Amino acid sequence: MNSNLKTNPTIITIFGGSGDLTWRKLVPALYNLFLDNWLNEKFSIICTGLEDTKQEDFINRLQEGVDKFSRSGKSIPEKWEVFSKYIQYKKADFTISDFYNELKTDIENFDKAANCIANKIYYLAVNPLFFGTIVDLLNEANLATDREHARLVIEKPFGTDLETAKALNKKLLSIFEEKQLYRIDHYLGKETVQNILAFRFANALFEPTWNRNYIDHVQISVAEKIGVEDRGGYYDHSGALRDMVQNHVMQLMCLVAMEPPVSFNADEIRNKKADVLHAIRKIKKEDVHEFASRGQYGAGWQEGTQVKGYREEKGVPPNSNTETFAALKLFVDNWRWSNVPFYIRSGKRMQQTMSVITIQFKPVPHQSFPDEAIENWQANKIIINLQPDMGIRIRFQAKKPGLQMQLNPVDMMFNYNDTYSAGIPEGYETLLLDVMEGDATLFMRADQVEAAWDVVMPVLTMWNDHPSINFPNYSAGSNGPETAEAIVAKEGDNWLMLAFDKKV
Ligand code: BG6
Repeated sequence: MNSNLKTNPTIITIFGGSGDLTWRKLVPALYNLFLDNWLNEKFSIICTGLEDTKQEDFINRLQEGVDKFSRSGKSIPEKWEVFSKYIQYKKADFTISDFYNELKTDIENFDKAANCIANKIYYLAVNPLFFGTIVDLLNEANLATDREHARLVIEKPFGTDLETAKALNKKLLSIFEEKQLYRIDHYLGKETVQNILAFRFANALFEPTWNRNYIDHVQISVAEKIGVEDRGGYYDHSGALRDMVQNHVMQLMCLVAMEPPVSFNADEIRNKKADVLHAIRKIKKEDVHEFASRGQYGAGWQEGTQVKGYREEKGVPPNSNTETFAALKLFVDNWRWSNVPFYIRSGKRMQQTMSVITIQFKPVPHQSFPDEAIENWQANKIIINLQPDMGIRIRFQAKKPGLQMQLNPVDMMFNYNDTYSAGIPEGYETLLLDVMEGDATLFMRADQVEAAWDVVMPVLTMWNDHPSINFPNYSAGSNGPETAEAIVAKEGDNWLMLAFDKKV
């Protein structure tokens, strides 16, 4: 995002416009951009879907979505009245060319009325099976050729393995140029995730210690309390490794491990992130058990309520072998990170919803204090809370008040809610605005996606070829399977508690 200037005139076509993502995320995000005055008055949103829905009913449903999910609360009637005029529902079958000819006329009319060449954004919020057909038909209708203004936004999953991701990239790049492609990873739009770049590269304080000389290991946990909800059908073909680790968690790791960029140019940042992915040590197939742990939740209790096991969820086969938890131990083989383990994990139906990155420092080189003084001693930590708590803590030792020398860990805290009163934009707001502004910094480039698949492939293949014999192996409401402990214990470490005590 550059400044508080309005974006160019824009026409967005959402394929899958009557779907859940549009309802929960995209329209609330666009509405908030409108409220904050980011949208040009010359703006249009075409939502396509197969349902026979009247325009008025469609708009009402979208308003319900905004009322329910928007970070700014219920819609303001006079504002919604203006905003909703931008939206048009089109019942259409996007697998046949008629729709694209119609769309072309709509776009040409929009440009004429706006008296300019507007941005044309095609947002693919559909089953990936349709990606190929849609881009082919966009191409046939000549809707992809304006290299400056035509942009394609692609939701995950981007392929289901390295091979399919490569094939999809090949397909997209046969029609679009890379600069027209915006592969979304919504984690990169999160305020706290972007703040990792600010924390690391806008401060001189941390960089000198941000390396193997001072850092013992790094932990990245993305835990969710929710189960698969009504997405069993999709999730059972995906699993935690594909759904969360290959994309969101790996991107977080890149932000922690990347070298300082020379500028904030999109390719410069993406090059530095791709370097991390390329430097990750390839896990050998025969070592997968030592570097990776998988889990599947069984029935359990969450906050006093009994919840189902994964195999009892809607759309999930009763003998499913899909993992709902995945943990990896990775090493980045370069000068900065040589032999520093990165422990990453993500799971559903965990005890807490919590995304947190912990930078665990090494012990002091020599303990000068007597044994009694250091009973509570802990190594330094930088704890980056991404969600739901948002902030950064630096844990260090202080002298406990009293007549004796006793050390105690204390925290220096930066907390978003205490520091800022302005609302925090949702990831999708940031990302949609970036697409309108043509800024691809927070989007995944073809090579990055492929490099991330390359990292997880040995684990995926091994897990696929050798179904687990002990699923379910963690109870809903717990911290995941015991095998996850084993991969870190091997290095003499343990997973840190997801929630840190506020009081020390
Ligand atoms: C999605 C996954 O990409 O991210 C979901 O498909 C997951 O399974 C979601 O629940 C988590 O996103 P957030 O923003 O709620 O942390």
